[in-house]
Amino acid sequence: MKKDSLEKIRKEVLNCKKCPLYKERGRHGYYPVIGEGREKTKIIFVGEAPGLNEAKTGRPFCGSAGKILDELFNSVKIKRESVYITNIVKDRPPKNRPPRKEEIEACVHYLARQIEIIKPKVICALGNYSTTYIMEKFGLKKKIQEISKLHGKIFQSKKMKIIPFYHPAAAIYNSRLKKILKNDFKKLLRDPDS
Ligand code: URA
Repeated sequence: MKKDSLEKIRKEVLNCKKCPLYKERGRHGYYPVIGEGREKTKIIFVGEAPGLNEAKTGRPFCGSAGKILDELFNSVKIKRESVYITNIVKDRPPKNRPPRKEEIEACVHYLARQIEIIKPKVICALGNYSTTYIMEKFGLKKKIQEISKLHGKIFQSKKMKIIPFYHPAAAIYNSRLKKILKNDFKKLLRDPDS
């Protein structure tokens, strides 16, 4: 069988009809947001699902949540191009509602394959949905709690570290959360291999 690749995943997502969200794409002329960044990276960021700006451009975190994410990257001198950024769900749920269980179930195998290809040392889970999926997938189900209890903690799973963060969108109008996010991002200043 041909080796899996990010390009193969890209082509599959473009033709994917596994959940009803693909219809939104056709109806509005949206793009799926597959992922962006460097394949050979130690850090991957996993958000929830594309918002309107993301669906219009096909790029993750390019709207107001993306501005916060860029600010967080700047605060720890990480270049956006040096990491990989994606979401658990690749198509925009209507009206920015949270992704449904069946949508997540239909879509997450793409993320699982992206992680398998990239083999990051650190997975940064942005928000509740991403944290729950990532912790379940990597054997940390028993440690799942609300994001308010998990944010900024480093969990070890096999050869990877998993760090849950508040979702950057939560900090758009909440300076207290932005401060917490900035502080939690400092965990990324550590050597990903250590
Ligand atoms: N929120 C997300 O979770 N992902 C994006 O790509 C944009 C906003």
